[in-house]
Formats: sequence, structure tokens, C-alpha cells
Amino acid sequence: MAEVIWGLATSHVPSIGAAMDHGTTGDPYWKPLFDGYQPAREWMAEHTPDMAIVVYNDHANGVDLDVVPTFAIGTAESYQVADEGFGRRPVPEVRGAPELSLHLVEQLVDEGFDLTVFQALDVDHGLTVPLSVFCPEPGEAWPCAVVPLLVNVIQYPQPTAARCYALGQAIGRAVRSYPDDVKVAVFGTGGMSHQLAGARAGFINPAFDAMYLEAIQTDPQKLAALSREEYVRLAGSEGIELIMWLVMRGAMDDEITRVHEAYHVPASNTAAALALFDNRAAQRA
Ligand code: DHB
Ligand code: FE
Repeated sequence: MAEVIWGLATSHVPSIGAAMDHGTTGDPYWKPLFDGYQPAREWMAEHTPDMAIVVYNDHANGVDLDVVPTFAIGTAESYQVADEGFGRRPVPEVRGAPELSLHLVEQLVDEGFDLTVFQALDVDHGLTVPLSVFCPEPGEAWPCAVVPLLVNVIQYPQPTAARCYALGQAIGRAVRSYPDDVKVAVFGTGGMSHQLAGARAGFINPAFDAMYLEAIQTDPQKLAALSREEYVRLAGSEGIELIMWLVMRGAMDDEITRVHEAYHVPASNTAAALALFDNRAAQRA
């Protein structure tokens, strides 16, 4: 039987990836952020999953804005790294986990989540930056296979936070019903507060972020009860990416253990955070 062993919430700011790609992580601007990642990275390296479900959003790089599915999943053998206009990031292509993907599609459709299925997909910074946060030096290949799980957070109306949490709960049940004995990590990506354009460009809300970082562990129902308008008002127009953390949280047990967290302002225009949770029931006993 498969098990969700840990969950990682992390921002996906493109320049975090660029700092790694260009070897500038030790610069004064970046060092505090990457120092904050270090304990989580060491722990994750000691607990490498077989597969990761990466809940992320495409930013009109892999999928044209003409077609924006509310929820979608990749079922491919592999995913190319998208060229976002500056050439592809120098990171490995992403190995898929098609058998787990197909199991998830079946189970989730049966539960009423009618996912769009991508049999081919290029993955952008929304997915590759979180993978780099997890594994800064992948060498020739990422350490685990990946199921991309896409959420529309860029075009109105985004799914509700409650629906994202419910999707996560269905994903948790689907993983537990997967017959192979594999260890699965779930990534909830994006956030925290940020707004990239418009009158409130540069908006950051540290008080909301602090509340969210705490409640994602202890009271996800409270976060699931917020409306999309409240997310935009409180976290900024791009801060609504935080609803993807709730998919990750829903896939985990009610009680989880916090391994590490870090919060840093700013990373580019974003309040960047990382929160790592251990989901192994045996560790809590
Ligand atoms: C930034 C943040 C994002 O979430 C994103 O998708 C692109 C850019 C930024 O802060 O620069
Ligand atoms: Fe984003």
C-alpha cells in the first residue's frame, strides 16, 4: 500500500530557480533565503520519496491561456522543462509516474473530480522551482518520479479553497488505495502573499502569512473557509496560489508533525516560505 510520507509547502518564485542556476545563492540578497531552506533539504534528502505529487499552477507557459482547466493532471512518461522566454532552465527533464497518475485519474473521477488529462505537458517554474527547493543538485535526474497536478489560480474564477482541500482529501484516499508499496511526497506550491501587477503591485501581508503558516498545520478548515475574494484581498492577486497548499494538506493526515519552516521577504516580489510536514503515522505513535 502506498503512503504519503511528507508534504512540502513552498513558494515557486522564478528567480529562486535562477539564483540556483546561476550560482548566486551565496549573494547577500539570496543567502538568508537559502540558509532557511537548509534543514528541510537535509531532512528530505534523508527521506527521499519514490514519487511526488506536485500540486502547481502553470503560468501560460506549458498551456496556452485559451485553455485553462480548473484542475488537471499529467499522465505522461516524462515532462519537458518549458522555455519561459529565457531558454529552458538547466535542470533535468521530469520523469513521470504514469501508473500512479492513471490510478489517481480513475479514483478522482469516480469521486466527482473531473480532471483534465494532459498526456503531454511542458512544466514551468511552478513545478521546477519547487523541485529545486527540494533537491538543489539533481545531477542527471531528479531523485523521484513526479505526478503534475495542476490548479487554475491565474484566471477568474479560480476553484474555491474548500474544493482544493476536498480534492486533497480525495488524493489522500487514492494514494492509500494504490496497491504498490511506494512512498509518496506531496508538494503544495506557490504563495505566500504577493501581487505582481495593478494598483497593489508589491503587496505583502506578513500577518496573514504568519496565520496561514500556522493554520495550514493546525486548522486547515479555517483556510478552506476563506473565499477566493478574501485570498486576493488578504494575500494579493497572486497570493491566491496558496489554495494549492490546501490540496497538499488535504492529502495528509489530520495530525501532522512540522519538521521545519522558513519565511523570507522579499524574494523578488513575493513573501517566500517553506513548510515541511512529516505524515508518517508510525513517527507519531
Ligand atoms: C514572481 C512570483 C510568482 O509566483 C510568479 O509566478 C512569477 C514571479 C515574483 O515574485 O517575481
Ligand atoms: Fe506564481
